[in-house]
Amino acid sequence: MKTQVGIIGAGPAGLMLAHLLRLAGIESVVLESRSRKDIEETIRAGVLEQGTVDLMVQTGVGERLKREGFFHEGIILRFDGRDERIDFPALTDGKKVTVYAQHEVIKDLVKARLDSAGALLFEVKDVSVYDLATAQPKIRYRHGDEVHELQCDFIAGCDGTQGISRRAIPHGVLTVFEKIYPFAWYGILCKAPPSSDELIYALHERGFALVSTRSPEIQRMYLQVDPGDKVENWSDERTWEEFRKRLATRDGWAPKEGPIFHKSVIGMRSFVVEPMQFGRLYLAGDAAHVVPPTGAKGLNLAIGDVKVLARAFEAHYKKKDDALLGQYSEIALRRIWKAQRFSWWMTSMLHRFPGADTFQHRVQVAELDYVTGSRAASASLAENYVGLPMA
Ligand code: FAD
Ligand code: PHB
Repeated sequence: MKTQVGIIGAGPAGLMLAHLLRLAGIESVVLESRSRKDIEETIRAGVLEQGTVDLMVQTGVGERLKREGFFHEGIILRFDGRDERIDFPALTDGKKVTVYAQHEVIKDLVKARLDSAGALLFEVKDVSVYDLATAQPKIRYRHGDEVHELQCDFIAGCDGTQGISRRAIPHGVLTVFEKIYPFAWYGILCKAPPSSDELIYALHERGFALVSTRSPEIQRMYLQVDPGDKVENWSDERTWEEFRKRLATRDGWAPKEGPIFHKSVIGMRSFVVEPMQFGRLYLAGDAAHVVPPTGAKGLNLAIGDVKVLARAFEAHYKKKDDALLGQYSEIALRRIWKAQRFSWWMTSMLHRFPGADTFQHRVQVAELDYVTGSRAASASLAENYVGLPMA
């Protein structure tokens, strides 16, 4: 079997890359280890940058998003018992973000792929890559009872943090940059009306809390917890009590409570590998970098990467020009490092660090007071949150 671009992983990166390549007339095969049901139901991100939304709409996969997504023109920063709002359109020449769950993006991209009769294989096992430094790199995998070999012009490693692509790169090629945070997020989904029209990021001496949403009936909320914490430690009663404490304001705000139907704990880290390429293997999305979720950047970065990568493949096939392929890593990393900085900064400003004293808390409050009180500082937060330009 042969294809032009072999894509490992059907997350946002892999599926969007396949979609962009199809529009450019480039053939690809997408290999995914999980089932369609599994990838379409996994609860993850929720906030899409303006550039991600624009790309989906411009390339014909944004219809449902336009109908069902929620446009948010600001966020609330809650600290010291009060709320301050960051107004995105006013600070960014009219930009905003859209709340639309990652698994809905996945459903839209899977449908587009299958409707166009593009190759997308689920439940593929034992994926491995070979001959990466040659002109004919190969992917071997098992599908059902059979082992297959796919000969490619290029391979895109879009298989997330736990995938095989990054690990297939010989030792010594990649430089790894990593920061593990001393806390995690405990996230819930509950059946309740929205507590707020906009997301609330709250700094509290007991730890960070976030109020997000999914729909008029379903809400997404997070609490900072210890990295070793487990969902079993969080009864519904304890969960709501903690949200009430951390989200309390001087004027008596309280979240709208309802039955909790999903609980998970996610670790927090910053991670980047450089370069994002070896031979004819190109890494994109979480396979090459991870951000803590405080800036809502992960999915958006994955989309930003494949936008650059698709253009580089297009230049190769249409103009026999490999300059962009040679610069892929450098171009993508400049934007990635800015998102890393923003995610690290938001995380540091809003979380309680173990052993922090009252001095540190006051400095964090002062920083939030400054950020929300200064037009220059608010504009900086806003332009990063809605997303820096995609290269
Ligand atoms: P993934 O989505 O991880 O996709 C990789 C795919 O590859 C998976 O489907 C996997 O099954 C498959 N795979 C793995 N190994 C193999 C293999 N060997 N063979 C074949 N297939 C393989 N980001 C935001 O932008 N905004 C947010 O609000 C946000 N909130 C988040 C909240 C939570 C709770 C979490 C966990 C993450 C959040 N993120 C957010 C991050 C975002 O979900 C990720 O950055 C995003 O999924 C990255 O996309 P990807 O395609 O690179 O990788
Ligand atoms: C979410 O809705 O899942 C969400 C929102 C904002 C974040 C992270 C996650 O910063």
